[in-house]
Amino acid sequence: MKKVVVLTGAGISAESGISTFRDKGGLWENHDVYEVASPEGFARNPKLVLEFYNVRRKGLLEVQPNAGHKALIELEKHFDVHIITQNVDDLHERAGSSKVLHLHGELLKAQSTRHPELVYEWKKDLNLGDKCGRGAQLRPFVVWFGEAVTMMEPAIRLAAEAGIFIVVGTSLLVYPAAGLLNYAGYDVPKYIVDPNVPEVYNVPNVEFLQAKATEGVPILVKRLIADDQSRSH
Ligand code: OAD
Repeated sequence: MKKVVVLTGAGISAESGISTFRDKGGLWENHDVYEVASPEGFARNPKLVLEFYNVRRKGLLEVQPNAGHKALIELEKHFDVHIITQNVDDLHERAGSSKVLHLHGELLKAQSTRHPELVYEWKKDLNLGDKCGRGAQLRPFVVWFGEAVTMMEPAIRLAAEAGIFIVVGTSLLVYPAAGLLNYAGYDVPKYIVDPNVPEVYNVPNVEFLQAKATEGVPILVKRLIADDQSRSH
């Protein structure tokens, strides 16, 4: 089975009701990213940071995967699909995708501030005083600005092995994630689904589908399946 790698960003979850970061009215318009999403911000005001993620966590539990997430399940019937998501939501998993790599962490998990290997499922509010099994304060299991993206290594490996590379709903402004597209082979067909096509440089064989995820992803999935079937007959 041909390997399809799908890099997703906040745009794929926008129509489920989760704000993106950099669109008009996006999260970073109303919050100072360095206050709520950096280790320094957490050290200065942990309560504010915990509350920021508590609001996001509550919101996540109220929304559902959309037709964009769901179309990727259809793709799994025909291809070896690997999703690399920058999103901290669990909408790909809830839609039924089986291979999902979270580059920037997961909102429904908490991590020890002293023992990073200690990670817990976490669906309720996370407060000061919530501790890991070894007594240290817990924090959201989210990669903050200035922190290492430890999942980049497996993500780069996947990107380099892709037979088809799809990008959905990301401004491609945040590195190292944005660089993944450059690891896909020269001849590998690449597709970018986004209503506001992001700038990409030096990426050969790329086709832009200017559409929202709920429209663009199902159309692309249908097309890839049809191409695959016509090739195998
Ligand atoms: P951005 O907010 O930077 O970009 C969202 C992208 O989604 C834009 O290109 C939009 O045009 C597109 N978009 C909006 N609505 C859409 C829809 N209905 N269907 C498809 N696309 C749509 O979000 P990301 O690129 O995901 O990191 O941001 C990357 C990282 O920056 C995030 O993971 C987060 C943030 O800071 C951390 O918090 C570590």
